[in-house]
Amino acid sequence: MINKTVEIGKYTLGGIWLAPMAGYTDVAFRTLCRSLGAGLTVTEMVSVRGLVRDNAATALLMKTTEAESPSCVQIFGSDPEDFKRAASMLDCDIIDINMGCPMPKIVKNGDGSALLLDAERAGKIVRALVQNTDKPVTVKTRLGYYSGKLAASELIESVADAGASAVTLHGRFAEQRYSGHSDMSVAEEIARRASIPVLYNGDITEADICDEESRINKSDALIGVAVGRYALENPAVFCGGKLDPIEYAERLIGLLTEHYDERYTLNQARKFFVHIFKGVVGGKAVRSAVNCANTLTEVRRALDEAKLALK
Ligand SMILES: Cc1cc2nc3c(=O)[nH]c(=O)nc-3n(C[C@H](O)[C@H](O)[C@H](O)COP(=O)(O)O)c2cc1C
Repeated sequence: MINKTVEIGKYTLGGIWLAPMAGYTDVAFRTLCRSLGAGLTVTEMVSVRGLVRDNAATALLMKTTEAESPSCVQIFGSDPEDFKRAASMLDCDIIDINMGCPMPKIVKNGDGSALLLDAERAGKIVRALVQNTDKPVTVKTRLGYYSGKLAASELIESVADAGASAVTLHGRFAEQRYSGHSDMSVAEEIARRASIPVLYNGDITEADICDEESRINKSDALIGVAVGRYALENPAVFCGGKLDPIEYAERLIGLLTEHYDERYTLNQARKFFVHIFKGVVGGKAVRSAVNCANTLTEVRRALDEAKLALK
């Protein structure tokens, strides 16, 4: 089991974090992962532009609770002025900046991974925040923008100079989006040269975390990991365990109903059940039941039936 801790400002955190994932890492899923041992949970990315324009949808994305303290909100943008204005509006303990999103609608505005092409601007963004908040600021990025053209070191040094506390480094280039494999060796080299702590992200599963001899466990350069897609399948990855699929579904629905309305809960259940019941005998029936359900009562009934069938 990974035995790493990460110091971010005044916080000492466990070394296995939940990576932000738009559409998934809402309060409910973050609370579940936190209860299962995630060292830090991060909201999905929130536009600083939306924030300074007082966009209500943006505020909802930023909702955090005591259960995930210290909380972390991820923001994105490219105008340092927006970050300066947003600094006092963020109701969280740690601020993470997205400098890795490869999606065209983000990159075309100079946001996300486009900042890998402009390290100076990345530094200005971090400085604008750091000078206007006492919260620690972290950055999430990738190896570079164009495949094979490393740019992370330059970006990391620029944001480190500006006062960033740590960086989470996804071992792919933006141009790759999610294809190919995430390269831990290259990330480790970059981390070794970096003047601030670097956590690794990309294709991490239970095996990396539980195997004492895994590369990440043995790395002296990478101080922790952020787990993304694998956590959707198995949120107990943070404690090196495995949740029974029915228990996972029931706990998630319980948390969703605590924080959101029935419509949102049903929508999330449809998305999550694809991951929860992947490869589970009888899982297909639960997935099709949830896809047809109009109420949560129907979803609960489908889970009860699956429970009986799986006994
Ligand atoms: C559906 C989805 C949404 C994502 N949304 C975000 C996001 O809002 N902010 C971010 O920094 N990364 C986002 N990512 C990237 C992940 O945080 C992570 O870097 C990537 O999935 C690689 O890690 P993994 O192999 O463990 O999934 C997203 C990834 C996925 C699959």
